[in-house]
Amino acid sequence: MTVRIAPSILSADFARLGDEIAMCVEGGADWIHIDVMDGCFVPNLTYGAKVIETVRRLTTLPLDVHLMVVEPEKYFDSFAKAGASVITIHQEAAPHLHRQIACIRELGCLAGVTINPSTPVASLADVAGDVNMILIMSVNPGFGGQRFIPRTLEKIRQARTLLQESGNHAALVEVDGGIARDTITACWRAGADTFVAGNAIFAASDPRGEIAALRARCTEQV
Ligand code: DX5
Ligand code: ZN
Repeated sequence: MTVRIAPSILSADFARLGDEIAMCVEGGADWIHIDVMDGCFVPNLTYGAKVIETVRRLTTLPLDVHLMVVEPEKYFDSFAKAGASVITIHQEAAPHLHRQIACIRELGCLAGVTINPSTPVASLADVAGDVNMILIMSVNPGFGGQRFIPRTLEKIRQARTLLQESGNHAALVEVDGGIARDTITACWRAGADTFVAGNAIFAASDPRGEIAALRARCTEQV
């Protein structure tokens, strides 16, 4: 499996966004993770299409847009036009998950579904064949810099098994929250291939080097 490292700009310095994105590119990041929060699904507010469009102009890397919002379908069209490559929605906020996944794919984006720490992987059984990615949240969404919840490892294993049983061998398994040198290896071994990291990268003394260090924690120890 290929390792993908997706720095989350939630922890970036927005006064220097251009430099921060350039740092990610130079450091070898695979995707840029953009956390959209509405102050309703999660207790925090961030950004929308304008920032996606800005980041789109700063890099050609795929933009991994994580929607922590109610009624996510309201934003599919504008976010796709703004340059989103992957649009991931929460199962808890999407009662018509099957249709919503289809809408994202029709717009030419990859479709991801994600679940909070308290939501079982089995809740995704009926859409596992339709998604491009399952994102397992390893913290309760809303803020960067939280501690990794260990139970996540079992959920990563379950997600990988679910995709295999659905015949969906191409789908990715992403993990988001508390990913750092001390947590990434176990996630990789459990079956994750795509890793969001905010604080671990942007608060590092050498952020560029940290991207490589996180990747090495996967590849060197398997
Ligand atoms: C949390 C967000 C994450 C966050 C991760 O709600 O979905 O993407 O930026 O930040 P760290 O890596 O600092 O836990
Ligand atoms: Zn996220």
